[in-house]
Amino acid sequence: MQIIICHEPENWADDAADEVSRQLARNPASRLSFATGATTLPLFDELVRRHEEGRIGFSQATCFQLDEYRGLGAEHPASCAHTLINRFYNRINIRKENCHFLDGLNAAPVEFCREYESLIQEGGGIDLQVLGIGLNGHIGFNQPGTPFDSPTHSAKVEDFTWQKNTRFFKNPEDNPRDALTMGVATILSAKKIILMARGGEKKDILCKALFGPVTEDVPASVLQKHPDVLVILDHSLSKLCSS
Ligand code: F6R
Repeated sequence: MQIIICHEPENWADDAADEVSRQLARNPASRLSFATGATTLPLFDELVRRHEEGRIGFSQATCFQLDEYRGLGAEHPASCAHTLINRFYNRINIRKENCHFLDGLNAAPVEFCREYESLIQEGGGIDLQVLGIGLNGHIGFNQPGTPFDSPTHSAKVEDFTWQKNTRFFKNPEDNPRDALTMGVATILSAKKIILMARGGEKKDILCKALFGPVTEDVPASVLQKHPDVLVILDHSLSKLCSS
């Protein structure tokens, strides 16, 4: 595991964007997956900027959605698909047919998740997975207690995460209690993983995830078992695990 501290807020997304650029230079038909949330928005903007400058192209790339609320379609502004489409996919030259979504409106989630997992694994897996981390250590929508061998599945949104996410909904009652998510095993099967985190409030959970015991109680701790993880932190996290 390699850890990079980014000291200038304006360059926050550069190292992750460099990795995406390198991945696409090595293999233009790479299979990518990106978390949404506040952490990765600057990365989307930086990748769009590089695309507009002709420095990066996605015409052969494929993207797989990491997670989605159940009950929300892509037109809902709080859905992860809405963010991916409007902040990223519509601004780069990725082909629509190469963007795979977790359909939050699907009425048969078990079958849907099984097929989604097959689509990922039978096509050769994910080449580069970009993650954020929740304050309880969740990755994707994999909450504490999620088995490490879980494939793409329908998950309960734990109370703590649900409370945090109400800020994205005008009416808290619209905030779903269930989600679809690539599983911990799906994430771990990616060839390379980037974990991005910023803001001092994530210090304690990062300390546990990166240096504590590997336990299903802290889903992100599983990343310690992966051979190729790049962790990108901002200056407020430069002194992890110290008071
Ligand atoms: C969202 C996702 C989540 C977020 C996490 C951190 O697609 O995968 O696990 O990465 O909740 O969210 P932010 O970046 O808003 O702190």
